Amino acid sequence: MYHLYQQHFQKLQNKGKYRQLPELFGTKRLDFSTNDYLGLSRRKELLDAAIAAGRAYGVGATGSRLLSGNQFLFEALEMRIAVDKGTEAALVFNSGFQANISVLSSLLDEGVLKAKPLVFFDKLNHASLYSAVFLSGAELIRYNHNDIDQLSNLLDKHPDDRPKFIVAETVFGMDGDVLPMQAVVDLAEKHSAFLYLDEAHATGIFGKNGYGLSTTVSLKKVPHLVMGTFSKALGVSGAYVACSEILKNYFVNHSQGFIYSTANSPMVIGAALKAWDIVRTMDADRSRLLELANTLRSQLQALGCDVGTSASHIIPVILGSEDAVMEAKHQLLKSGMLVSAIRPPTVPPNTSRLRIALTTQHTLQDIQRLVDALIPLMARQVKSPKPLQKVL
Ligand SMILES: Cc1ncc(COP(=O)(O)O)c(C=O)c1O
Repeated sequence: MYHLYQQHFQKLQNKGKYRQLPELFGTKRLDFSTNDYLGLSRRKELLDAAIAAGRAYGVGATGSRLLSGNQFLFEALEMRIAVDKGTEAALVFNSGFQANISVLSSLLDEGVLKAKPLVFFDKLNHASLYSAVFLSGAELIRYNHNDIDQLSNLLDKHPDDRPKFIVAETVFGMDGDVLPMQAVVDLAEKHSAFLYLDEAHATGIFGKNGYGLSTTVSLKKVPHLVMGTFSKALGVSGAYVACSEILKNYFVNHSQGFIYSTANSPMVIGAALKAWDIVRTMDADRSRLLELANTLRSQLQALGCDVGTSASHIIPVILGSEDAVMEAKHQLLKSGMLVSAIRPPTVPPNTSRLRIALTTQHTLQDIQRLVDALIPLMARQVKSPKPLQKVL
């Protein structure tokens, strides 16, 4: 049977779409590929908190939360998240992928809703959100990325006697642009739609005290759930959903990914709790990071790069072809820089891109190095790049 799998990846190889784990480098590279946006993954306080939690509660949780795995730390973290997100409750999951797939699919349960739900869904949403909708069997109605007029028209066109859900990321992971929050909240209210927000890339960077963009709007009149991760700016792993008490109880009883999985390591939860607390003290770091991103975006645009609609610390350089993006990644690597090459199906066809992720660890010198390395690459792509000013 192995040959069938081999034939499949042979096909991917022929199309230039074969993926491989990155090489492990002996030498240190300037890293623009990490999601450790606040540089917390190696912070001493997090390491100390992880070790202390391990000593107190063990390395492993020993069981699902419903059996032997429910430790004080989980409840403490959930309480903190609920307070800072302004929700009644929160529930922690082992990963963002697991949270989305199990929570969203259980929300969309046709048996519980007594009708097949309609899911209005940004085309560029993460794979875990797509998988959840497919798993649930709900009707998927995709709208163009961040196209609020189209979303509004689609909501108008569909009957209100079926449960409606709107699903979107608040900061899009591959484009680095931001959801027009108030407009989406207004539409959800107008159509009595459930709003499902994924704050994976906003958590730690945007919103009040860095706790995500949902903290910038009132969601009182809209049934909603906000998901976020500890795996990106918080530098750890795992995820949360912030929601009503009713929904938390529903997930504890109905989400397979919660019920049938060993709880996260107490060491991870201890570190996540520490990271959650540190994040609120990092306003100055966030401002500097977003300023650095503005500077880099201007430099890239002057170079003729297509940075899409990026408005965050995530900046794509959209090159179009898969070959061009792989070649650019390779050349940057030769110059000592790690930048992710993102290709379909992660992004739509002909929008292959370098994904530059800035962190608080980067300096103006670092982005100058990146811009300098991109000059010859872009000169091959763009016929007449505009003259460049130095960053420094
Ligand atoms: C928007 C979004 N949601 C969910 C996830 C999954 O999170 P995790 O890596 O914690 O599984 C990711 C990760 O890339 C993401 O970008």
